Amino acid sequence: MTWKIGSLQLKTPLILASGTWGLGDTILDYLSPEEIINSIGALITKGLSLEPMAGNPPPRLLETPCGLINSIGLENPGIEVFLKRYYPRLRDLEVPVIFNLHGTSVDEFLKLVRYLEEENIRGVELNISCPNVTEGGIAFSQSPEVVFQLVKGVREIFSGFLIVKLSPVGPVLEVALACKEAAADALTIANTYPAMGIVSYEPLKVIKGGLSGPAIKPLTLRLVSDIISKVTLPIIASGGVLSGKDVFEYLLVGASAVQVGTANLINPRSVIEIHEELKELLLRHGRLLDKGHP
Ligand SMILES: Cc1cc2nc3c(=O)[nH]c(=O)nc-3n(C[C@H](O)[C@H](O)[C@H](O)COP(=O)(O)O)c2cc1C
Repeated sequence: MTWKIGSLQLKTPLILASGTWGLGDTILDYLSPEEIINSIGALITKGLSLEPMAGNPPPRLLETPCGLINSIGLENPGIEVFLKRYYPRLRDLEVPVIFNLHGTSVDEFLKLVRYLEEENIRGVELNISCPNVTEGGIAFSQSPEVVFQLVKGVREIFSGFLIVKLSPVGPVLEVALACKEAAADALTIANTYPAMGIVSYEPLKVIKGGLSGPAIKPLTLRLVSDIISKVTLPIIASGGVLSGKDVFEYLLVGASAVQVGTANLINPRSVIEIHEELKELLLRHGRLLDKGHP
């Protein structure tokens, strides 16, 4: 089968989700180049900003019975260091690399994208949905007007493939329609869900961050299905994938591709197992994908 997100052709529908496989310096410790090329359709980088970000103070992670709350706060070395130190190794893998971007304002996003256009980077995913930073992040996703201005501005200067990563909370449909109107190429649905956990009682420590993992799969499946029926843009699903079955179900409701996130933190080779399971399901039930969406 061939896999396409609009004009972007992929070898498989599996994409490694931003922030869940490091910066790219360790991926080859776990997966061989052949495994990456055969199993992974695209790689999405950690969220990158203009300047380095130290991220949030601990606690940054809390496991829940069927999910993970993270409050990393977009720690990253900044776009320039990433391009020099980490990108060359990823580029050599010959799998599309999509740059996940974080800006605290429209202007900052535009500066990032202008820089990437000059560096001939061909794919970006705008993160307008991070629930654990104080500036930017999820705040963008609450205003379809701001999202429209942002995506329109980016579209004017970026000629590569433009994905917008939405929050699962707020006016999701209106934001999705604003992205379509501003000529985005695809949407990622969705980022993590705002959540809170108690890490310890004495001393009292809490974590406020984003919930990911299997707990969110039914919620995001519903969201993907709802948005697909109303917005004619390719949708990349992201939320709670642990198995080939999870991926197949997102494809069944109409997703063009599916991201693997928290599963990488449980087992950095999980994408290989997920790919094998998916291949079997596609052999048995693949014809269902042409029959319209439930
Ligand atoms: C530790 C961690 C770090 C993340 N960092 C980013 C990030 O930098 N940018 C982003 O857009 N999403 C980030 N995400 C969200 C994931 O890319 C993914 O969309 C989300 O976790 C839902 O998918 P999952 O349930 O398969 O993990 C992060 C998630 C986790 C768990």
